[in-house]
Amino acid sequence: MKKTKTVHPKETHKPKRAFITGITGQDGSWLADFLLGMGYEVHGLIRRASSFNTERINHIYQDPHIHGVHLFLHYGDLSDSSGLFKLLSQVKPDEIYNLGAQSHVRVSFDQPEYTGEVTGVGTIKLLEAMRETCPKARFYQASSSELYGGLDCPPKGYTEKSPFHPRSPYGVAKLYSFWAAKNYREAYGLHISNGILFNHESERRGETFVTRKITRAIGRIKVGLQKSLYLGNLDAKRDWGDAKEFVKAMWMMLQQKTADDYVIATGKTYSIKEFLEVSFGYAGLDWKKHVKFDERYLRPSEVDYLLGDASKAKKAFGWHNETTFEQLVERMVDHDFELAKKEKKSVS
Ligand code: NAP
Ligand code: GDD
Repeated sequence: MKKTKTVHPKETHKPKRAFITGITGQDGSWLADFLLGMGYEVHGLIRRASSFNTERINHIYQDPHIHGVHLFLHYGDLSDSSGLFKLLSQVKPDEIYNLGAQSHVRVSFDQPEYTGEVTGVGTIKLLEAMRETCPKARFYQASSSELYGGLDCPPKGYTEKSPFHPRSPYGVAKLYSFWAAKNYREAYGLHISNGILFNHESERRGETFVTRKITRAIGRIKVGLQKSLYLGNLDAKRDWGDAKEFVKAMWMMLQQKTADDYVIATGKTYSIKEFLEVSFGYAGLDWKKHVKFDERYLRPSEVDYLLGDASKAKKAFGWHNETTFEQLVERMVDHDFELAKKEKKSVS
């Protein structure tokens, strides 16, 4: 990838400070790994829960009593504006990454109002806190290909100029956040960028999203812990990339002199059926013998087709994906086979 002009934080004396909402999620954990590797001091917002929700970041967590710690976790919630205000005034970050969200599209039909509160209005709460306490910070908003809704896709994929037509309460909430971010940039001259990211996956993907649901099932079928896998619509197509590569694009956006909005995607699209063919095939299994239909996984309105054109990001800062679809699938299957073997051992 082309190098950006930014000075590497490790080359400066004072480390740059980042604040991440959603640090316990798939992207937040990869981004924290990446920023710590770049010498950043990382502050993450975590939700108080009755059980541990920090599994994805346990490997980088250090006892805060130890000298020289670079990762700090703070309790908070995107619905709690006074908490966000207090946190940002204490932390005074150089960069803010708003990744926190109720991010499951199907669930957003069951919890539309909650999704609106967190995934939509939560963003404006964070933007207000930034405007009041650290207006010089740079802000990344986790926008989504769900904004497009899958209709009238140009042959090379959706671009930053394509019209939006969200098809779920999640998509509608993300649309609100997209425009809130853009409006705060225009109205107050703040450095705020939207990353319109297409689907990205990894071995840290939540287990109810379709790719990980499939690779988890393959591992469990292989070791004899499961026989069937229940899925919904197998004909939808997604532009699936590697989450590890996609979080780097978030950082690159914030290193640009001027804030802007960018599509991040691979430019290739595959159906759920194709994902099943490649993943089950790699594991030496026939998906047709295991996959069953359950209508509860259908959505009241579906996004049938997603393909993104990331030419603008490539031209501006040299981002492009490297991991192929097959490499990503194989990495996830391998990981989940190992996980299933451990699971099997613990129950036998
Ligand atoms: P994820 O794994 O579902 O993580 C979501 C994160 O948000 C978790 O850390 C979660 O905390 C946190 N969160 C949920 N509700 C919150 C609240 N009320 N207050 C504060 N934090 C809250 O999602 P992801 O895949 O990493 O995606 C990161 C962001 O990018 C999300 O905004 C998502 O909508 C967006 N996005 C994702 C993709 C994709 O393909 N992955 C594509 C485009 C956009 P807990 O761990 O406590 O649940
Ligand atoms: N989750 C799930 N579970 N999806 C299924 C299933 C199933 O059992 N069966 C079929 N699918 C289909 C869905 O109908 C959808 O068309 C596709 O698989 C992908 O579903 P998800 O993996 O849940 O992801 P998504 O595309 O709806 O949303 C993800 O990507 C968005 C970016 O386009 C999420 O990460 C969003 O937060 C993100 O914005």
